Amino acid sequence: MILMSNSAPIAFIDSGIGGLPYLQWVKERLPFENFVYLADRKNFPYGEKSSDEIVEIVLRAVKSLRAGSYPKMLVIACNTATVTSLDAVRAAVDFPVVGVVPAVKPAASSSRNKRIGVMATKRTIDGSYLQRLIENFAPDCHVEKVAASGVVSFVENDFFMASDDQKMEIVENAVDLFSGEKVDKVVLGCTHFIYLDEILRKRLGEAVEIIDSRDGVGRQIIHVLEKENLLSREKREDIFYCSAESPGDSYRQFAAMFGLSYGGVMEGL
Ligand code: DGL
Repeated sequence: MILMSNSAPIAFIDSGIGGLPYLQWVKERLPFENFVYLADRKNFPYGEKSSDEIVEIVLRAVKSLRAGSYPKMLVIACNTATVTSLDAVRAAVDFPVVGVVPAVKPAASSSRNKRIGVMATKRTIDGSYLQRLIENFAPDCHVEKVAASGVVSFVENDFFMASDDQKMEIVENAVDLFSGEKVDKVVLGCTHFIYLDEILRKRLGEAVEIIDSRDGVGRQIIHVLEKENLLSREKREDIFYCSAESPGDSYRQFAAMFGLSYGGVMEGL
């Protein structure tokens, strides 16, 4: 049994920048926690790979994170990685693991017309995990699912340089479909889409509520830290790592935007 230090970091992992808004949610509420973030750019996009490939990739990344940063907790801040790999990761580590899955439950329970939309990666949309979420929590809803692979790479590669018009354009297909289907809730089932929530809000109009899982996941993280007696009292530092550099140095800018120091490429990946 390893004795966990409370000031050890909470590790977040995603295929790119998608998990940063989740880290920010926790950072704003727990100022003494320390964070390490890994953008697994080398293997981006997860959403176009097979489940077996993703499990292998995520386990490798978690192994490097564990060896390099000794985290006290891991947040898989990626829906695609969670729906494919959560069980395998939990079985491989001796610290708590929190995952991120599409917020179908709150969307279904608050939908007035019982018509909801879900935007996610191809792997999440095609997978059985989402299907089970729908069967369990939205059996009375019509669920319109959109695999928005183009939107994922746009956010990862072009978000900083893109104009509002380009951002509008990239969400157009999904917006048209959701509007045509008269959904009143849209679930952002890929963490990358949070960067476009304002644009989506503008395009979908006020009658449609956009729902992501930051509140639910953030509260779960705090709950686990409290329950396991793992809350930190000592602020050290927050570091952003990647498995490969991003074009145009955008990772440095994202790290700065979320108040993390830039650690560059993590060894062993
Ligand atoms: N951010 C990830 C998610 O929440 C997926 C991005 C990717 O396809 O790599 O599903």
